[in-house]
Amino acid sequence: MAEKIRLLSAVLGSEQVPAHLARSVIEERLRSAILDGRLPPGTALRQEELAGLFGVSRMPVREALRQLEAQSLLKVITHKGAVVAPLIGEDAVDTYALRVLLETEALRQSIPHLDAADIALARSYIEQLENETAHAEIGRLNRLFHLSLYCKATNQKLLRMIEIELNEEERFLRFHLSAMGLGKLTQDDHIALVNAASDKQVEQAIEVLEKHLNTAALTIRRYLSAQVAK
Ligand code: NI
Repeated sequence: MAEKIRLLSAVLGSEQVPAHLARSVIEERLRSAILDGRLPPGTALRQEELAGLFGVSRMPVREALRQLEAQSLLKVITHKGAVVAPLIGEDAVDTYALRVLLETEALRQSIPHLDAADIALARSYIEQLENETAHAEIGRLNRLFHLSLYCKATNQKLLRMIEIELNEEERFLRFHLSAMGLGKLTQDDHIALVNAASDKQVEQAIEVLEKHLNTAALTIRRYLSAQVAK
């Protein structure tokens, strides 16, 4: 127990948080520690421990945990409470099959409404990806690139679901990208995708996106089965 608290306070800091900011500060600290891997998948987060650590009541802690659960960063497990959610892996095939459905629909809705500024923003992410070598940053830029093409989708709920999936992928890429070698291959897809979107070629854009996501799914699947074989 003392060991666990020490770990948590090393990761999250232990300064007392002003009561009126407690929920958002706690949520933000947990979120960034989960995203960058300081709190690995499976870590249990107990309300009393976190409340004690930050010197607040359990209510803001519970609220923060609920927000993170809604973002799929935590899972609530019976008798165990909130734990840091697993990375895509065992269900990678299902995850990508679902993403093809969600993201092609978002792209279909969004492309007719994309203007020159949206396309320029998407291209700027491709350029930044070209020069970026830090894996955490590559994951983030990839997410922002995809969202920039879906952003004008009319169904807001669809966009929120896609954001959850993209956050999950970003977190996975942070840990595994170096070993996977997706590299420049996916940049060719990104360029083809933004060109098709810019030309309002909806069907062509969808075809590229499907191929892009299927390639990622295949690469992740191969990578994970090689991990298991080790
Ligand atoms: Ni991509």
